Amino acid sequence: MTRTAYINGAFVAEAEATVSIFDRGFLFADGVYEVIAVVDGRFVDDGPHLDRLDRSLREIQLVLPMPRTVLHDALLALLGQNAVTEGLVYLQVTRGPAERDFAFPAEPRPTVVAWARSLALLEHPRARTGASAILVPDQRWARRDIKSIALLPQVLAKQAARAADAFEALMVEDGLLSEGGSSTLFMVKDGALITHALGTEVLPGITRERVFALAARQGVPIVERSVSTAELLGADELFVTAATALVMPIVRVDGVAIGAGAPGPITTRLRADYVTSVRHGAAAAM
Ligand code: PDD
Repeated sequence: MTRTAYINGAFVAEAEATVSIFDRGFLFADGVYEVIAVVDGRFVDDGPHLDRLDRSLREIQLVLPMPRTVLHDALLALLGQNAVTEGLVYLQVTRGPAERDFAFPAEPRPTVVAWARSLALLEHPRARTGASAILVPDQRWARRDIKSIALLPQVLAKQAARAADAFEALMVEDGLLSEGGSSTLFMVKDGALITHALGTEVLPGITRERVFALAARQGVPIVERSVSTAELLGADELFVTAATALVMPIVRVDGVAIGAGAPGPITTRLRADYVTSVRHGAAAAM
């Protein structure tokens, strides 16, 4: 099957979906993106993801060049054309092609691209056994709340993780954890969930919001604060969340076993509840 991508209003074979070498996404990483999970043929939290895209665009003073409903319809069409029932949609908006100049072009022509990919999200092999992580310095910029396509620090961090055979790189700044290279970090201590407060230091994770709601329903208290590396290594349980990782237990950090060295009860329940909630949501929407 020829996979199709969406590019500026058209659906084209992926091999033919190209953009200009003058695109400001390519020259300056002048753009933002979203990754939306697909489960049972439906998007998970597409509304909140498109809300966050709107916010990212606003923060970089870029306007989506089509109504949001048109974009949403295009993303749905991509799922159908590529027969994706479980996986993800990647969506990126840049300030488009222009003569190279740091300041904005007078009349930007934004580039909007999207593609869909099948991926087994629910049955991830690491979900049962737990995954490992490494600690890396957080070398990112000061506006991590914007889902910018400028990801070189995360590329380097996650390459270091791969070289260490680890699932995620956990980023440390001034002795405190911010988040994962592409995920939100949660620690469980004495029955409470602890995660970084929202602000400019971390991305406001959409999965984080759903986990908050599930934890509240279970009566698990949530504390929003940053934790030190020493606290992290002494956690009862750790997990990370992201659109495609869902809730992923972390059982080893820099070779140190976390808690019992296996996915803990709160993490296990939250992952199960998360899966049920996205599947239930999918069924309810049909
Ligand atoms: N990353 N923090 C960072 C730095 C991220 O890149 C991501 C997601 C998250 C989790 O956000 P959400 O729950 O909305 O997916 C937190 C995506 C999946 C990626 O870049 O592939």
